[in-house]
Amino acid sequence: MIKVLTVGSIALLFTQCTNKIVQPEVSVNNMAVAKQTISSDSLHAFATETKKLLMKNVGEQMKIGGPESALEFCNIQAMPLTKSMSDKHGLVISRVSDKRRNPKNIANSEELKLIEQYKKQLLAGELLKPVRTETHYYEPLVTNAMCLQCHGEPGKNVQPKVAAKIADLYPNDLAMDYQENEVRGLISIKTN
Ligand code: HEC
Repeated sequence: MIKVLTVGSIALLFTQCTNKIVQPEVSVNNMAVAKQTISSDSLHAFATETKKLLMKNVGEQMKIGGPESALEFCNIQAMPLTKSMSDKHGLVISRVSDKRRNPKNIANSEELKLIEQYKKQLLAGELLKPVRTETHYYEPLVTNAMCLQCHGEPGKNVQPKVAAKIADLYPNDLAMDYQENEVRGLISIKTN
């Protein structure tokens, strides 16, 4: 994968930072790579890049306006930012969960099985490794303290104002009451 950051695109990145949304770097010839040949190392790099992009943006928003404004930001930007990574790499990248917040992120039966497997491994203190099938590459998404501000216990980790807004934006939300170091879902990359 060749990444070219021209002076123009660097300038663009800075402009976008001031607009609060940090966009991924520009990459060229992504579609030229045959999907079958993509190495697990590259897929791991794409998954990491996606996580970082989302977390960087959420972190920025937290600093600017606290969890309430970060929540609104996620509501509007989480899907487009994830899609920007899909477009950049020419692969479908998504986040899925057994306890989804956005109904678009519902895990299918294969993903649910894997989430259960990761949960067992985490409880047993095993290392959670990426899984590759013929069609997909998966990595677990595990909670840390920061996640709990929007996915923890209302009243304890989630401020009442934030909890109210979540209920308003996601009437069928299931993604609350997490503790630290729990499997929150998967990052899924369709490779075939
Ligand atoms: C500022 C609030 C906030 C924080 C902090 C936050 N999230 Fe979320 N999360 C959301 C919102 C809002 C959505 C739904 C986004 C959408 O509608 O696309 C979401 C969706 C998700 C999804 C997609 C599945 C689903 O339920 O829709 C995953 C996975 C996820 N979050 C994991 C995490 C993890 C892991 C962390 C910490 C590293 C974290 N989140 C931190 C607000 C937050």
